[in-house]
Amino acid sequence: MNFGCNYYPEHWEKERWLVDADLMQKAGFNVVRLAEFAWSKLEPEDDVYDFDWLDEVMDILNKRKIKVILCTPTAAPPIWLINKHPHILPLLRNGQRMAFGARRHYCITNRTYHYYSERIIKRLAEYYRGNPQVIGWQVDNEFGGPKCYCDSCRKEFQRWLKLKYKTLENLNQSWGSVFWSQNYTSWNQISLPIIDYHNPALDLDFRRFFSDMTVKYSYMQIKILKSITPDKFITHNTHDSMELFSHLNCYDLAEKYDFVSWDNYPQKLENRFHIELAHDVIRGFKKKNFWVMEEQCSYLTREDITPTLPPGQMRLWTYQCYAHGAEAVLYFRWRACSFGIEQFHSGILQHDGTNKSISYKEAAQIGSEIHRIGPQFEGSNVVSPVAIIYDYDTVWANYGYWGNYGYQKKPMYSYPDEILRFYKAVRKKGINVDTVKPTDDLSKYKAVIAPLMYIVTDEVENNIRRYVEEGGVFVAGFRFGIKDIHSNMVKSVLPGKLKKLFGISIYTWDNLKERKVEVKDDEDNIYQADTFADLITPEEAKPIARYNSGWYTGYAAATVNTFERGRAYYVGCGLPQSFYDRFIERVLKGLALESIEVPDEVEITTREKGGKRFIFVMNFSDKPSRIFLGEEYTELIKGKRLKGEINLDPFEVLILIQRIL
Ligand code: GLA
Ligand code: ZN
Repeated sequence: MNFGCNYYPEHWEKERWLVDADLMQKAGFNVVRLAEFAWSKLEPEDDVYDFDWLDEVMDILNKRKIKVILCTPTAAPPIWLINKHPHILPLLRNGQRMAFGARRHYCITNRTYHYYSERIIKRLAEYYRGNPQVIGWQVDNEFGGPKCYCDSCRKEFQRWLKLKYKTLENLNQSWGSVFWSQNYTSWNQISLPIIDYHNPALDLDFRRFFSDMTVKYSYMQIKILKSITPDKFITHNTHDSMELFSHLNCYDLAEKYDFVSWDNYPQKLENRFHIELAHDVIRGFKKKNFWVMEEQCSYLTREDITPTLPPGQMRLWTYQCYAHGAEAVLYFRWRACSFGIEQFHSGILQHDGTNKSISYKEAAQIGSEIHRIGPQFEGSNVVSPVAIIYDYDTVWANYGYWGNYGYQKKPMYSYPDEILRFYKAVRKKGINVDTVKPTDDLSKYKAVIAPLMYIVTDEVENNIRRYVEEGGVFVAGFRFGIKDIHSNMVKSVLPGKLKKLFGISIYTWDNLKERKVEVKDDEDNIYQADTFADLITPEEAKPIARYNSGWYTGYAAATVNTFERGRAYYVGCGLPQSFYDRFIERVLKGLALESIEVPDEVEITTREKGGKRFIFVMNFSDKPSRIFLGEEYTELIKGKRLKGEINLDPFEVLILIQRIL
């Protein structure tokens, strides 16, 4: 099993490297990530290279059987390069050029930057070709921004649009440019969305464009590395920032990598479901296990310093990574740095460098456990009966509306929050969830859930219809299919061409951000609706909940329809969690693991391999908890047989083994 940390040896005096490597080895680290952001150390002057320091530290690590992942250093171009070519610096949306002094200060379409990137990457790859200690590459660091609004990007955008729309007539038509006199008569009139409330169609295309340009830049790097070092894997560490990787189309980005990685900073125990979901979304980008390239080990530098992790919490989060399909966990960072912008960011070691830190002791514990038990579940997969659709058109169409001044900030409705309502209900039952593209083959899933799915293309519509016809259970959240591929509202009665499938019509809706509306389900439970309401007129469908206030009364709030061999549910408004819990109970009857009962604070996630199921049971509480095991299981970490009532310590993790057919 791969287990390690992110190491920046260039931040420490050479004499320390030996001590570090010894401590790493003692903690069971067998892989470190090196040379991230180290461009100015690798190429201190234009075309002058120095890899000696890297060789030296790699040698020390090698003697301790520690493998290396090298990074292409392109997230931090050095000052000599910027001074020579100042146009590499991105032009920000406010019209200011980004200054040197942080990171990610490059324009993604800048050809000069591509040239210098290629050059350093080739050098590195050629130099480390044939070196077996280097097992893989990380390309750049956390692609996704800042977006650049320079002339080069603008011209590139115009070219991109021309390829896509072919004629201006088509573009004007698709964008609805007649609105506010925006008709274009020449491609070079089209600008980037630097004003706050631009045409939503342009806004959506700009997001797609920026994503495409990033994918292109990333692919340029991959191609070089693959051609020179075909034996080494290539990955990229994307980031979450609580918006579920919304900055780029990560399905596209992931395509050319061997696997994807991500940087996981959960911050709070209460973010458990969000982090679970993020792991599942990451796994969904390639339908494949992944790496956690950076994992939080204690307090972080954010707007403020986040809390120090109490003993046990880092271990809990580490096992959560493995449970959801991580093949490796590397902590960020080895040792807290005494200088630079992240001085107040913990490492496995504190600034003092001793082995007395909570994180070091805990890492050593996890290290010894993981090497002992990891091989058992290594190569196993997360098998999920339920899928949630995660779609970038929908993510981005949600941003382009004009009430949302400074659209960079918040979308109209939170897509992650809408997903989480359903996701939590499913996960509380210990049922695994995959996230999928709307065009993916859905047939292997018992149920597919599509919260806040604005954009439903013809292809997707057919995909969903086929799935339900063949016996699938499909669940839509409010605002399903309201927009077309250009982020324009559809003109048909909602829910559009899938009206028959849902057996409903929606003629009226309401924003519930400020209005209180009651909903009553068919078991007479009363809820307060929130966020948004589609007022449903059932046709063939049966209501399972109705609005119960004023002029709303009479409309359905949630419905179910039998369609061919399957069923289609529509949940028309936001509701309290208890609604989703009951709803999912009814929709997914029989899918939960019946032999284990856990309270809400305990997570269950499973991986499978060769007739064995590994059931990760994790207490996401700093208080003791209790579970009930209906059958006898062998527990992997302690190697004991367990049955009946089991007490869990705060943050405790069990891995139960179950035989499956
Ligand atoms: C990111 C980066 C790291 C570091 C951490 C700090 O994820 O990849 O370089 O800045 O955040 O939390
Ligand atoms: Zn630019």
